[in-house]
Amino acid sequence: MEELSLVKNQIKEYIQECGDQKSCDLLEMLAEGKMLRSKLILKIAGVNDNSIKLCSVVEMIHAASLLHDDVIDESDTRRGKPSINALFDNKTAIMFGDILYSKAFTELSQMDKKIAHTVSSAVTLLSIGEMLDVDLTNNFNTSYDKYFDMIYKKTASLIEASAKAAALLCGKDEIAFALYGKNLGLAFQMIDDILDITQDSATLGKPAMLDFVEGKVTIPYLLLHERIEDKEKLESLYKKPLNEQESSWIKEEMIKNNVLIDSISQAQKLGLEAVEAIKMDENEDLKNIMNQMINREF
Ligand code: FPP
Ligand code: MG
Repeated sequence: MEELSLVKNQIKEYIQECGDQKSCDLLEMLAEGKMLRSKLILKIAGVNDNSIKLCSVVEMIHAASLLHDDVIDESDTRRGKPSINALFDNKTAIMFGDILYSKAFTELSQMDKKIAHTVSSAVTLLSIGEMLDVDLTNNFNTSYDKYFDMIYKKTASLIEASAKAAALLCGKDEIAFALYGKNLGLAFQMIDDILDITQDSATLGKPAMLDFVEGKVTIPYLLLHERIEDKEKLESLYKKPLNEQESSWIKEEMIKNNVLIDSISQAQKLGLEAVEAIKMDENEDLKNIMNQMINREF
């Protein structure tokens, strides 16, 4: 998508405006992402000055949240490359996150009030979501409600806000597009949680099957815990580094209990609900974004 390079250039310009060479250098070191939020915004609002600025603000917020997340998760890889905290240290990752985040807010403050409010309140939810995620790693969580509330806040809120803000930008139905973004975001996180189990580390760009070791009881583990007879064995592996035999046992039990298939169909259902919310827009591109997101491999 050619338009995405316009977003990348705009972000570069924003950081250059901060007048700090180290920030420009750090920006160059960030591994490129899928830019899902920008793709959505551009497909909803079209390509123009305002939509490119909105994309840049959202991508900078997203990048800041990942910089902080890698510190919180003590993760040394991001998208197949060493994370900034691994390359430098936690302090650098936090401070550069703060620079990206605050510059994004400076630009957001110059935008339409409703758009600024939509995006800024999503960042509060995002931060609460991260706190819930960390809190949920204290014990083996068996509550779907807690899982869904957490992934809504941690991941779907900013995607929801991106779609809603894009609709506001071009005068489309903001409620319908917010619902599209929300369901797409929920499905996105569920697919992420499934890929953690089904893909190898080379494909993921980070260690595979790490969620459970980190204490994250994601949708496949929730379903498995509900269905499996030997709950104690599953619980005994929680938050432990898994050897080959243990991770194979988990995967086999997941297959035996139809856990992966059912997790994928839950994500698909949310994806279809997303597309249903905006069917009046007759936008094939938004349908494709949903399908690609569901069928992705990393
Ligand atoms: C990745 O989750 C993390 C997020 C989607 C949100 C993180 C949010 C914050 C740290 C709040 C701070 C926000 C700002 C703007 C400074 P994950 O760990 O499940 O995914 P991963 O495997 O990609 O790391
Ligand atoms: Mg993380």
